[in-house]
Amino acid sequence: MNITVIGSGYVGLVSAACFADLGNHVTCLDKDKAKIKFLNKGNIPFYEPGLASMVKKNISSNNLFFTNSYKQAISFSNVIFICVGTPQYNNGRPNLKYLISCIDTIINQYKKENSGKPLHLFIKSTVAPGTIKKLNKKIEDQGLENKLLISSNPEFLKEGDAINDFLKPDRIVIGSNNAESIKIAETLYRPICWKSNRVQIVSPESAEIIKYASNAFLATKISFINEIARLSDVVGADIEEIRKGIGADERINPNFLYAGLGFGGSCFPKDVSGLNHTFKEFKIDAELAKATLKTNKEQTNYFVKKIQSYYGKDLKNMQLAIWGLSFKPNTDDIRESKAIELIKRLSSKVKYLMLYDPIALSNAKNELSQLKNIKFHKSAKSALRNSNGLILCTEWKEFWSPPLTDLALLKQKVIFDGRNIMDKDLLVQNGFKYFGIGK
Ligand code: UDX
Repeated sequence: MNITVIGSGYVGLVSAACFADLGNHVTCLDKDKAKIKFLNKGNIPFYEPGLASMVKKNISSNNLFFTNSYKQAISFSNVIFICVGTPQYNNGRPNLKYLISCIDTIINQYKKENSGKPLHLFIKSTVAPGTIKKLNKKIEDQGLENKLLISSNPEFLKEGDAINDFLKPDRIVIGSNNAESIKIAETLYRPICWKSNRVQIVSPESAEIIKYASNAFLATKISFINEIARLSDVVGADIEEIRKGIGADERINPNFLYAGLGFGGSCFPKDVSGLNHTFKEFKIDAELAKATLKTNKEQTNYFVKKIQSYYGKDLKNMQLAIWGLSFKPNTDDIRESKAIELIKRLSSKVKYLMLYDPIALSNAKNELSQLKNIKFHKSAKSALRNSNGLILCTEWKEFWSPPLTDLALLKQKVIFDGRNIMDKDLLVQNGFKYFGIGK
């Protein structure tokens, strides 16, 4: 099938590459000319395991093209996936300016071409519930209601594992009222439903809510376990034992119940705020989304207080090593990263911070360029030398069991493990003071 994907950000690029890899001809459009040039050469603007080779392979097999021409993209196919960004306003509402401008351009282009054949538009961008209804109104006002058919196809990709998530999804949600659009989506996704049909056909409104509610529910699990971890700290329990204990109940399950510094990234904070704003907009009494965000914010303070209470007044003379800057492992994405938040908070309270991340150093350098007392290191080991303690913020694999000989480079044997991944018993046996979260 010929497909157009609009937007070459995280969701757009992964979707375009995966659809191409499934044997479709895909044109991926972005307004940014420099980016299109970059992509056409087979380069990828962010780190995602496996994506660069998939893009290169499909460019060479002529299954994947990049363009900045709407004319070209729309004449290429009548199946269009819209994956433009919907960043949030301060009040949590998603800013739809890119989406609206994209729909307007499609309307104008469609009118110019006047081919008469309907366009099937699938919105992958995360939008507030009710958005598709509003967009349909816009299309009706233009007299194009049977010509531009909008469906929702929310995306559930996790950064760092996006290709696997696309090709082996838990579910594919199609929110549509149009039989032909549904048929197209079912045909397109058929190759990845060989084990069982994972396609769920629902209304556009349900699809929009499924996306928000999925992310909000997962985020709520994380804030919940982080509150339990605080209790665990006070009474001297172990949050890992608790996670396994409660997670053994299949109704709860142990996944996404890892206590730590809290959640970051481009989705959870934005989508929970978006849901919270939607509740307000519809004047619905709802507390959980708000509480989830509040607990997540407090979790950074909670960790900073642990560090402050250990060093006391000496904190201002301390040099501390920080391992992990991305919001989670296997990505260079530092958006809403807890590590970055922590560094901004701590830098005014300490003498120096020595920072290391396997992939996200260059993004972090841009973000933290204002801070004067930080230094970036090319290895985990060199960040430790002469530091008065180690703070772990992101659970990259290389941080799980670092050689004790490396840790011995610390001037003081103190470790604050913000992701509860290190072997506490081993460290304590070797003379380290270990502070986890709920451990
Ligand atoms: C998330 C959703 O998982 C995905 O389905 C959606 O499409 C986009 O948002 P992503 O933001 O890539 O994906 O990351 P995810 O792996 O979900 O982690 C989000 C944050 O939660 C990270 O900061 C992670 O460290 C934190 N987290 C995750 C926890 O603190 N504890 C956990 O148990 C799980």
